[in-house]
Amino acid sequence: MRIIIGISGASGAVLGLELLKALRAADVEMHLVVTGAAAKTLSCETSLGLSDLTALADASYDPQDMAARIASGSFSTDGMIVMPCSMKTLAGIVSGYADNLLLRAADVCLKEGRKVVLVPRETPLSLVHLRNMKAAAEVGCAIMPPMLTFYGDADTVEKQIAHIVSKVLAQFGILYEGGMRWNGCK
Ligand SMILES: Cc1cc2nc3c(=O)[nH]c(=O)nc-3n(C[C@H](O)[C@H](O)[C@H](O)COP(=O)(O)O)c2cc1C
Repeated sequence: MRIIIGISGASGAVLGLELLKALRAADVEMHLVVTGAAAKTLSCETSLGLSDLTALADASYDPQDMAARIASGSFSTDGMIVMPCSMKTLAGIVSGYADNLLLRAADVCLKEGRKVVLVPRETPLSLVHLRNMKAAAEVGCAIMPPMLTFYGDADTVEKQIAHIVSKVLAQFGILYEGGMRWNGCK
């Protein structure tokens, strides 16, 4: 399986990091594009550098490189995950305003009828954000905000993140053991 990963500048660059680790463990070929704003959130929120993300991917691209392989539909993929997805990137995807490689790759996935999973992160959500999420759902994107989970003993941030990652991977039929399973109410 070959998946494009977009990491944009919403809070939670660590979500992207954990996604990359899980996909690597699942032996998925990953093509990564990290926006400039995501590099900023990474440095604001963690002690990691961009190379900690790119080292996990099979290929990574400059967000301004519009000639990269993932900018074309002729480069076959199983789809794309944008995690986390900023409100700006969400707006770009739903409007087809493909002015960086992440947006172009999402645009390509949509036009080719490939799966696009968005993990939009913002709170509170304005009507603009909500309208854009609705528009994204209408064009076939899966909208998966990083929601808290209260079952399965999800009592640490690490478990919460693992659960979100497992839900995202399930969209591609990939089983990730780190997630919680609902097993009925004891
Ligand atoms: C520390 C930090 C946290 C941010 N958190 C969010 C957020 O949670 N959601 C969001 O939509 N934008 C957030 N932003 C703003 C985006 O980074 C900004 O809109 C940027 O232009 C997004 O660009 P991109 O979509 O190309 O990555 C944050 C910015 C910083 C510096």
